[in-house]
Amino acid sequence: MNVAVLISGRGSNLGALIAAGRRGDLGPARIAVVVSNRADADGLRVAQADGVDTLVIPHGDYPSREAYDAALVEALRKRDVRLVCLAGFMRLVSAVLCDAFPNAVLNIHPSLLPAFPGAGAQRQALEHGARVTGATVHFVTPELDAGPIVCQEVVPVTDTDTVETLSARILAVEHRLYPHAVRLVAEGGWRIAGRRVVRTTIAD
Ligand code: GRF
Repeated sequence: MNVAVLISGRGSNLGALIAAGRRGDLGPARIAVVVSNRADADGLRVAQADGVDTLVIPHGDYPSREAYDAALVEALRKRDVRLVCLAGFMRLVSAVLCDAFPNAVLNIHPSLLPAFPGAGAQRQALEHGARVTGATVHFVTPELDAGPIVCQEVVPVTDTDTVETLSARILAVEHRLYPHAVRLVAEGGWRIAGRRVVRTTIAD
């Protein structure tokens, strides 16, 4: 199953996905292409170092979000992509992308959704005084950080945490959680019922 990873920056989750693929931990999923909306994204080098195909589609070249997403869809279809993973892709996606890949666009977010959606999730958790936060992998819908949840993991907040220390602990969890989620989704045996992702096969 060909997977595209969409990035805008650092690409540490991308690195974790590539490493998992190399270990055979992504099940049938194979990272076929990495797409960035920014030519200077460090993650492009992460992909190139591993010989993964990269593509830059600059958002400034398109008049609207829908036109941008249509260009993305065309590029992904050409590569027979079946699953799209947003990994620090700093753009809202439109129905054009979601409709082209129904129940096949994933995102990772650094909080336990629905708490603290949007930017600065780690800072939001600290400022709210939450005792636990975490990471969430969810299906993407045009509504920000609101799609059905595939998996989550809790990260405790300590009294001495700063945005930096909390972000680092959440990121370590993300690097484990995203490959796990991609494998679950790629292997199948699930369906979406309302807001819930439910298993249709019993694991051995
Ligand atoms: C991660 O914290 C992810 O949860 C959020 O953006 C950040 C991307 O980091 N969506 P990286 O580019 O994968 O290092």
